[in-house]
Amino acid sequence: MTCVGYGKIILLGEHAVVYGYPALAAALDRGVIIAPVATPAGGPLRLELRAWGVAITAEDDHPVARSLAAIADALGAGRPPLSLIGDAQIPPAAGLGSSAAIAVAIARALLAYRQPEGAVDPAVLGHAAGASEILVHGRPSGVDVALAIAGGVGVFRRASGLLPLAGVPALRVLVGPSGAPRSTAAMVAKVAENAHDDSDERLRELGSLTDTGTSALLAKDLTGLGHAMDRAHTLLADLGVATPLLDSLCSSARKAGAYGAKLTGAGGGGAVIAIAPRDKEAAVLAAWRAAKVEGFVATIGTR
Ligand code: PMV
Repeated sequence: MTCVGYGKIILLGEHAVVYGYPALAAALDRGVIIAPVATPAGGPLRLELRAWGVAITAEDDHPVARSLAAIADALGAGRPPLSLIGDAQIPPAAGLGSSAAIAVAIARALLAYRQPEGAVDPAVLGHAAGASEILVHGRPSGVDVALAIAGGVGVFRRASGLLPLAGVPALRVLVGPSGAPRSTAAMVAKVAENAHDDSDERLRELGSLTDTGTSALLAKDLTGLGHAMDRAHTLLADLGVATPLLDSLCSSARKAGAYGAKLTGAGGGGAVIAIAPRDKEAAVLAAWRAAKVEGFVATIGTR
C-alpha cells in the first residue's frame, strides 16, 4: 500500500493568499509516496525518506521528527510500531510544496495502518497535515495541504478552501528549482513587514491577477496567462521575496521565448515557473541549465 501527497506549483497568488486573496494552484504529477510497514516485534514510529536524506523516529530532535509527532498526535494515533518508508520525486524546501506533500503522505499512511480499508476524510487529513505545516510555516494559508490532498487544479481562498477547477486544458509548465534553500516562514514574515495588511495595493493586484490568469488558463490564452505571471513576479519582487537568481532565471526564460515566468511559492530561493510555446521549451530549459538549474516539464490540467 502506498500513500501519496502531491507537490504543487502556485501559478498566481502566493503571499496574497495569506491575506485572504485567491491563489491559482496546481498539483504536480509527482510528490511524496510512503508505504507503512508494520514492525510486529515492536519499536518506535519511524520514517525513512532516502531521497531527502531523512531517517528519524518520532522522538528525535529533528524538524521532520517534530512534524511526524504532530501529525500522529493530531490523529490521536499514538506511536504505533511502524516504519514509514518513503520516496520523493520533488526536492525539499524548493517552493514546490514538499512539506505539505510529506505531511499528507504521513497522515495517509498512519490512517491506512489504523484502518486499511477505511475511507479517508479529507478534513481529517487536512487537520493532521495542517498541524505539521504550522510548525514549518508559522502562518500557512493551507493552499499547499489542499493541493497535496486533492491533486488537480484549483482556486484556493483561506476562507473557503480549495475550489477545484474542472475542464482545465492540459498545460505544460516549465519548473526550475533554483537550488537555493529558503524558509517560507521567513518570507511570509518579510511580506508582513513590507505590506502590513490586506489593504496593500500590491497584494490586492496579486489577487486580481489570479482572477485574470484563471480566465486566461480556462480560455487557453497563454499570452494572457504569461502577462499575468510576469506582472505577479514584479509585484512579488517589490514585496521583497525575489532574489537576483530568481529574477535572472525569469528574464532568461522570457528571452528564450517564454510567454511568461515568475517565482513560485514563498520565494527567497526555491523555484521559478515558466510557460512557453512548445518549440521554445528546449531553449528555456537550456537557458536555465546554463545557470546550473535543471528544470523539468510538469503537465497540469486534464483536457
Ligand atoms: O514555498 P511554499 O511551497 O512553502 O509556498 C508558500 C506559499 C505562500 O503563499 C507564500 C504561503 C502560504 O501559506 O500560502
